[in-house]
Amino acid sequence: MQEIKERLVQDLKSATTAEQVEQIRVDYLGRKGSITTLAKSADFSKMSVEEKKSFGQRLNELKNFATAEISAAVEAFKASAIRRKTNDLDLTAPGKGRRLGALHPITLTQMELEDVFQGMGFSVLYGPEVESEYFCFEALNIPGDHPARDMQDTFWLKNQLILRTHTSANQVRTLQRFGAPIRAIFPGRCFRYEAVDPSHENTFYQCEGLVVDKNISVANLIATMKTILSQVFKRDVKVRLRPGYFPFVEPGFELDLNCLLCGGKGCPTCGDGWIELIPCGLIHPEVLRHGGIDPKEYSGFAFGVGLTRLAMMKFGIKDIRYLNCGDLRVNEQFTTLV
Ligand code: PHE
Repeated sequence: MQEIKERLVQDLKSATTAEQVEQIRVDYLGRKGSITTLAKSADFSKMSVEEKKSFGQRLNELKNFATAEISAAVEAFKASAIRRKTNDLDLTAPGKGRRLGALHPITLTQMELEDVFQGMGFSVLYGPEVESEYFCFEALNIPGDHPARDMQDTFWLKNQLILRTHTSANQVRTLQRFGAPIRAIFPGRCFRYEAVDPSHENTFYQCEGLVVDKNISVANLIATMKTILSQVFKRDVKVRLRPGYFPFVEPGFELDLNCLLCGGKGCPTCGDGWIELIPCGLIHPEVLRHGGIDPKEYSGFAFGVGLTRLAMMKFGIKDIRYLNCGDLRVNEQFTTLV
């Protein structure tokens, strides 16, 4: 036993790797290791009670000694491995940069619009993108043979529902739910069966709005639109109304914005100095009726801001296809502008 012990101490001293220490453990304490073999080979039948006791005791001591020495050696190797790693640590090396996300230009524009409208007492509501024919067309006074229902324009689902072609689908939904008086906007995504090119997308955003109250007139409509646009573009703007046809407003208008680039003189962006921006009008009595509102008591106006269009103008994006392309560089460049 003394010999085994001395050999073990010697072996552990000369070990230079953790693997060698593990081999030593196997050599001494493993199933066929020298300490195990010694225990197995002892012939107890030839020993006296005293001898048996003393042999057993010393064998145990040897085992404990070997176990303790070997695990100490293992620990020492672990510690030095960690030390080696820590020495490799270069505290002056540049860290991994944390990448900040950025909001999409349409999201930024939408948030800003919501903010401005909320400041004027409007609620912000969101309706479903999958709509019924009723809310998207029928309730808005758009008869079955109207071109907007044509297969060319509308994505029809198999269950007779559709992907909403405009956020106007929220008008009657909202009137039915909240009644009058009401001031609300409904920003959201719309879909049309369109060929995609620099100025057309099958998926785009609008921000619808309506006001229903007593004695609402075109003057209220113009004043509201001017205020909103001045805040969005952060300067005074000039607007004009032209007649426009939409079955759910009467009278209906196209609201044009005096071009901010050329000041109304005419330029490649606007042509004649005006940019067609917001279709709008006084809500048709038939639409109010669908909403459960008495048109003799209440009147209102509605408008549909082209949110995608507005974002493009605001950020100077010339091709609508950038907006849905999923390239993060589109987002990353605009956040700081707002
Ligand atoms: N929903 C119409 C469109 O998508 C726009 C509109 C909204 C017109 C509200 C009048 C009033 O073209």
